[in-house]
Amino acid sequence: MTTNSPYEHHEYDVLIIGAGGAGLRAAIEAKQRGLKVGIVTKSLLGKAHTVMAEGGMAAAMGNVYSEDNWMVHFRDTMRGGKYLNNYRMAELHAKEAPDRVRELEQWGALFDRTKDGKILQRDFGGHRYARLAHVGDRTGLELIRTLQQKVVSMGTDVFMECKVLQLVHDSSGRVAGCVAYWRANGEFVTFSAKAVIMATGGVGKSWKFTSNSWEGTGDGHAMALWAGAKLIDMECVQFHPTGMVWPLSVRGLLVTEGVRGDGGVLRNSEGKRFMFDYVADMFRAETADSEAEADRWYDDHTAGRRPPELLPRDEVARAINAEVKAGRGSPHGGVFLDIATRRSAEVIRRRLPSMYHQFMELAGVDITREAMEIGPTLHYIMGGVQVDAETAGTAVPGLFAAGEVAGGMHGANRLGGNSLSDLIVFGKRAGAGAADYIAGGDVANGFDQGEVESAVREALAPFTRENGENPYDIHRDLQEMMQANVGIIRTASEVEEAITKLEEFTERVQNISVKGGRAYNPGWNLATDLPSMLTVSKTTARGANLRKESRGGHTREDFPGTDVNLAKVNFSHSITGGWAGEITTVESPVLEIPAELKSLLEEAK
Ligand code: FUM
Repeated sequence: MTTNSPYEHHEYDVLIIGAGGAGLRAAIEAKQRGLKVGIVTKSLLGKAHTVMAEGGMAAAMGNVYSEDNWMVHFRDTMRGGKYLNNYRMAELHAKEAPDRVRELEQWGALFDRTKDGKILQRDFGGHRYARLAHVGDRTGLELIRTLQQKVVSMGTDVFMECKVLQLVHDSSGRVAGCVAYWRANGEFVTFSAKAVIMATGGVGKSWKFTSNSWEGTGDGHAMALWAGAKLIDMECVQFHPTGMVWPLSVRGLLVTEGVRGDGGVLRNSEGKRFMFDYVADMFRAETADSEAEADRWYDDHTAGRRPPELLPRDEVARAINAEVKAGRGSPHGGVFLDIATRRSAEVIRRRLPSMYHQFMELAGVDITREAMEIGPTLHYIMGGVQVDAETAGTAVPGLFAAGEVAGGMHGANRLGGNSLSDLIVFGKRAGAGAADYIAGGDVANGFDQGEVESAVREALAPFTRENGENPYDIHRDLQEMMQANVGIIRTASEVEEAITKLEEFTERVQNISVKGGRAYNPGWNLATDLPSMLTVSKTTARGANLRKESRGGHTREDFPGTDVNLAKVNFSHSITGGWAGEITTVESPVLEIPAELKSLLEEAK
């Protein structure tokens, strides 16, 4: 591949954008196939939203309940996703997750153990059996630590604090690399690659209360769309039921579902265990209808029925929202999560060390004695880049996507614990998909310097404007607006207003000015993130407007039920004319589930 880039330039076979679990697992696969691999991250190696999946990774290993198998996991995932899932992704995920977990163990991950030395598995919402391999409440951290060590030991190049602005094509429309800048000095850098794997994670920073850190600005979703890929299911956004609500400075910080998995219960201000009042019909047969029955289940999953606190996340988040709205919330606008009355202080400290520490340090609350105040926090987007289940390939030749940035696997709602296993199953598949694509020989030839220059010009424009808008003001207004209009419960008038407002935000972003130099300039960095945030928010608002039903992580107050016709449809977005250009949204059919798998949805118990 030839380039005449005037900037610092690097060449790889496979370039991976994002250094969370999916990116690292993809890198290992591509390296094992003998390819030259580079990883670019706008953050630091080891700091990714992956660590916020604290409670575990779901894999039907059957270590705690031998009745568990991939078919039950597949059924749970499809049902949790309200059948909007790409069934083939859900099938591959359920079949391959156990091997991927065992492989992590071989690479040094130190999982908690059963008494007879197997990998211990814990309960999470929507999973029929205790299925989450875990390391206390620090599982994502252990996954990252293990993969990072492997990647580094294999001699992979990692470019940290390097923000990618845009993908670049060759003259035939194949992805050929990207243009980026170093956050430390603001200098531009270009990368050419035969294949690019997008593994950038999520989009939470467009909302006000989120478990996402500053990196979660939807860069990968947006760049893939701008490059010609399609985004699907963007209206399906997950509000994790339990984030901290107080103190305000940490509002949104995750409280792991592992607390409920290990026996924590939810109560309102009247002390009532309110989840019994919110059991949807589809879960009624298997959900306990008394506290005594729910409590029995923790001792023997084959005896009682599941506690309602372990319903899927969308169900629990809506219930908490309704309790707070009805005036039965906690003093700081959440509800109470109590594990102290069921588990000993020793068990809580051993099984949930980070939660113990987090509440003690940040809120002065001792969770071994007191209940936590919690409420929903934006945690994850189910929507993402449309990919081929087998290869993780997108509509653009040479571009692959894996992890949270990819859509389809989780349908309308993700089950907790299915994210970490998604990262390692589809991270590996993306690495293999990219390697096979390269082996096919029909790869990028050249590098469109015009695309590089236009991205550079656009990135620098805020320095050339006098008296423009401050990026922080726009970001704050965007977060307020998305939280209010495209939040946990939506109505037509709210999402229509969001669509209009997002056009106004687009004009405002085109008028940003920033002061100072390019070195470590957070205002400028934010200015370069805002186009991604707006692109993603627009697709979410458009999908939310069109999906006139309630399904999983998309709830319409004006359409509270599901619509059988919309069960067959993903809303698919494409864009022309750059980030501020025209988005087109069409209905794209959900993959038809073959009969043998359909029967599993009924049969698997
Ligand atoms: O609650 C949690 O520990 C998060 C897990 C996940 O999002 O998969």
